[in-house]
Amino acid sequence: MASSDPSVAVLPLFKLTDVTFRYADGQVALNGISFAVRPGERVALLGANGCGKSTLLKILGGLQYPASGQVEGFGEPLTAARLDNEETAQIFRRRVGFVFQNSDAQLFSPTVADELAFGPVHMGLSAAEVEERVSSVAALTGIEHLLARAPFQISGGEKKRVALACTLATNPDVILMDEPTAALDPRAQTWLLDLLLKLHDVGKTFIIATHDLETVSQIADTVVVFREDHTIAAVLPASQLESNMKLLVQVNLVHDHLHRHGSTLHSHPHGHGVEHTHDHEEPPHQEV
Ligand SMILES: Nc1ncnc2c1ncn2[C@@H]1O[C@H](COP(=O)(O)OP(=O)(O)OP(=O)(O)O)[C@@H](O)[C@H]1O
Ligand SMILES: [Mg+2]
Repeated sequence: MASSDPSVAVLPLFKLTDVTFRYADGQVALNGISFAVRPGERVALLGANGCGKSTLLKILGGLQYPASGQVEGFGEPLTAARLDNEETAQIFRRRVGFVFQNSDAQLFSPTVADELAFGPVHMGLSAAEVEERVSSVAALTGIEHLLARAPFQISGGEKKRVALACTLATNPDVILMDEPTAALDPRAQTWLLDLLLKLHDVGKTFIIATHDLETVSQIADTVVVFREDHTIAAVLPASQLESNMKLLVQVNLVHDHLHRHGSTLHSHPHGHGVEHTHDHEEPPHQEV
């Protein structure tokens, strides 16, 4: 929450300055990235496939380190040297939760209940506290009926819920989510959006990678738009996204859609979730 005294600045939770990342094979994934995330902010990382969203989340989660540039988390440099220290790493990992793009990468226990208990047990909570955490987080995420099941024997959407529940079980301040709506049916997507709103109301910070234009304005306050060359095209309020059609076409999130009206072939920007209407004086629309 911002202070009413303008001389008291709110420190960013994360601050990236000119971050560049290359994979071992030389593939550039991020190129000169700079932006900051305030406490309680909901930030969407928006961009086409391969632009670097997942890589950036891994850097924010302390799972990868940049080739150049600086990353600060909670006011401290986020470097391999600092996170090599077990105590520092444990404090950091308690504050930052990660819901992976691929739920299978996150789930490994024999039952869903064991999976949910893993984080709280690791935090050193008592058996009674762990039990309480498991049942409250299972209720919050609607997975009580799955507790005795094996995580590898449930559906993709159910896995996504379990993965989110595991992340919430350690009560992190910041939640990093990679394509959270991808495996969910429309009803589950609505449920997730409601849950994210509730978590936002209790002060959680979200950084969410997505290319889903339909939900971005509901899950984010701020949108970081990536170009396909792994640079940032714009950082803007989510409410301004719809009026930036040109930008969305440039970064290949909205594509030129070629179609036919009567005998006329023409193209116009076509996206999912961003309203675009277009009029034709003539000829009238005909089935072809
Ligand atoms: N393990 C890896 N080794 C080499 N290159 C990789 C690796 N993982 C990703 N890349 C490359 O890094 C770039 C960024 O990938 P990243 O997974 O961060 O993109 P993304 O924006 O999350 O894409 P998507 O929307 O498809 O999930 C891409 O060019 C990709 O091919
Ligand atoms: Mg990705």
